[in-house]
This record gives sequence, structure tokens and C-alpha cells, in this order.
Amino acid sequence: MAQFIKVASTNELAAGAAKQIDVEGKSIALFHLDGNYYAIGNECTHRGGPLAEGFIEGDTVTCPWHGAQFNIKTGAVASAPASKPVAKYNVRVQGDAVELEI
Ligand code: FES
Repeated sequence: MAQFIKVASTNELAAGAAKQIDVEGKSIALFHLDGNYYAIGNECTHRGGPLAEGFIEGDTVTCPWHGAQFNIKTGAVASAPASKPVAKYNVRVQGDAVELEI
């Protein structure tokens, strides 16, 4: 059954920043955009590049390896060479805890 797990504190992640989270055997990229937090799979569906280390612009992250782009809010592909979306995870903030639904 799905549950929320604390993965970060709100003060750990500045607006416009991202962080790799390893939880329950999954590698997840957590993003902080304008006061809201979003989480998608960290491994680019092209060749596994780390999206938490990608370039963030607006709602889009660019994979640092070959430049595929993904929507940070949905995990959808925004630009090739990736053709498949990454997973999207629900995130909630409880007090100063950022929690991820796993
Ligand atoms: S691994 Fe991400 S674009 Fe190639």
C-alpha cells in the first residue's frame, strides 16, 4: 500500500534546486520550484543520465548526458533523444518535512 516517507527538509532545497533521493530501491529526483516540490524518476529513459544533476529551466529539466528534456511536474518527455517518460511521484509537505508517496 502506498505511503508517504520523509525524504528531505524544506530548508535543504533552495528554490530552483534538485536533489537525488534513494528510497525503497528507487532513484528519484526531487525538485523545488517556486515553493512547490515535485519528484520524478532520476534515471533518464535514454541511457540513464541523472536528472537531479540536470539543468532546470521553468518546468523543464535537461538531462546532463545528451540533452533530453522532461517535464518536472509530469515526467513527460519534452525533447528527444529520450522517447519514454520517467515516473512521477506524489509529494506533500508536512511542517518542514518533504514527503514522497511510495
Ligand atoms: S541519458 Fe539522458 S539524454 Fe541520454
